[in-house]
Amino acid sequence: MVASTTTGEGWSSRTAFILAAVGAAVGLGNIWRFPTLAGESGGGAFVIVYIACVFLLGLPLVLAEIFIGRAGQTDAVGSIRKVAAQSKAGPGWAIFGAIGAIAAFLILSFYSVVAGWVLYYAGVLGADFLQAIGQGDPFRGALQGESQAMIQGRLSDMFASVPLLLVMHLAFMGLTVFIIARGVHSGIEKAATYLMPIFFVLLVGLVIYGAIEGDIGEAFAFLFTPDWSKLTPAVINSALGQALFSLSLGVAGLITYGSYIKEGSGLGGTSAMIALADTGVALLAGLMIFPIVFAVGLDPAAGPTLVFQTLPFAFQTMPGGALIGFLFFTLILVAAVTSSISLLEVPTAWGIGEMGWSRAKSALIFGVGAFVIGIFCLLGYNVLSDVRPLGFWPLFADTDILDTVDGFTGKVMLPIGALLTSIFVGWIADRNLVRATTGVSPPMFALWRVLIAWLCPIAVAAILVTGLFPSIL
Ligand code: PHE
Repeated sequence: MVASTTTGEGWSSRTAFILAAVGAAVGLGNIWRFPTLAGESGGGAFVIVYIACVFLLGLPLVLAEIFIGRAGQTDAVGSIRKVAAQSKAGPGWAIFGAIGAIAAFLILSFYSVVAGWVLYYAGVLGADFLQAIGQGDPFRGALQGESQAMIQGRLSDMFASVPLLLVMHLAFMGLTVFIIARGVHSGIEKAATYLMPIFFVLLVGLVIYGAIEGDIGEAFAFLFTPDWSKLTPAVINSALGQALFSLSLGVAGLITYGSYIKEGSGLGGTSAMIALADTGVALLAGLMIFPIVFAVGLDPAAGPTLVFQTLPFAFQTMPGGALIGFLFFTLILVAAVTSSISLLEVPTAWGIGEMGWSRAKSALIFGVGAFVIGIFCLLGYNVLSDVRPLGFWPLFADTDILDTVDGFTGKVMLPIGALLTSIFVGWIADRNLVRATTGVSPPMFALWRVLIAWLCPIAVAAILVTGLFPSIL
């Protein structure tokens, strides 16, 4: 193993770091997974537990991960090892950096497949919008003349076509590798500084559209009126899991991004901005999607197909639907790119720091690897649809390949990563090093210590155990 060296790369400003980190956090998790879960779990009660999880558990962990990277100045494994050495602890702690890098790599494999679906839908609605312009009616609804069954059939047709799924997956992964190979400054930072403003403009525009054309009152009531009877242990569990996933915690992503912070501290305020922005976007995504769902009288609990089958149907009857539908899928695509690059950056930085590979080589090796695993995920929708990779395990007994990779990383690997991060920063890392690096004021530091050393380990261990062994509840 080559001695860990810093890659020497860094963000050009604090704003650049915040944009990149918010870009990493805001993704399919906010716009596809959050509304899906909120819809399935009955809305308000889920949303309130989710928000509590973000601020009591997620925010302290965001600061903990950024601290490790900022103090370590190299890839996640090397950074943890360095903080451990400075705290007179053994190098074995670096194991959770490795678990994180493996989790990021696995998440990337199916993330790119789902982003490929989004790419296809952006293409379908883009072509439809071009046709609308050609017909001299640019503000018509989307997909005129298609019945609801036909619109829903598009998703099953897409799943049945291996070449289509492959091409979309390849295009998205190729873009991700291209950006990461260009480096922190000309790749990640440039992508974030161009794409995030576009994302926010689109998001705000679509929320306003939903408020005017849709039923925002019902959406508000659905998202913010808690029906506590819906609050089962499984709902709490999925709210906690969603908070970790959405903030990109437990995969060493923020350790890696934090290692490119070259100067300055005040990491507490930065962490709070990341958590606030990510949660704000999730709520805005809910306020963008549900008014449209309710306006057309559709079912908010449609599940994972909500975005792909329910919304295109809604866009058909709404004014300007062709344009709005195209913009909607473009928005999700933009969010997915700034997240997938953060997923690839974690193993890529490991290859650079620990193996001594060049950035391009490392990005390519892990990009191709994740692409290959992703192929199995997409084949799970057609030729391998009977395969249950972890079928022997009751929790995943009836879970297809993509959902198994998603479930295993989300329910097992992310909580383990988050648990070890909180124990390491709460109990092992030298307190003076933590205080000096984070630059958090004494009263906030005391509060954060309680959360990271006590609440996080206990609560995350509880999610892990109840998630893995639901029968004990
Ligand atoms: N947070 C991203 C999202 O919400 C997903 C992600 C998870 C990205 C873990 C990086 C690491 O889509």
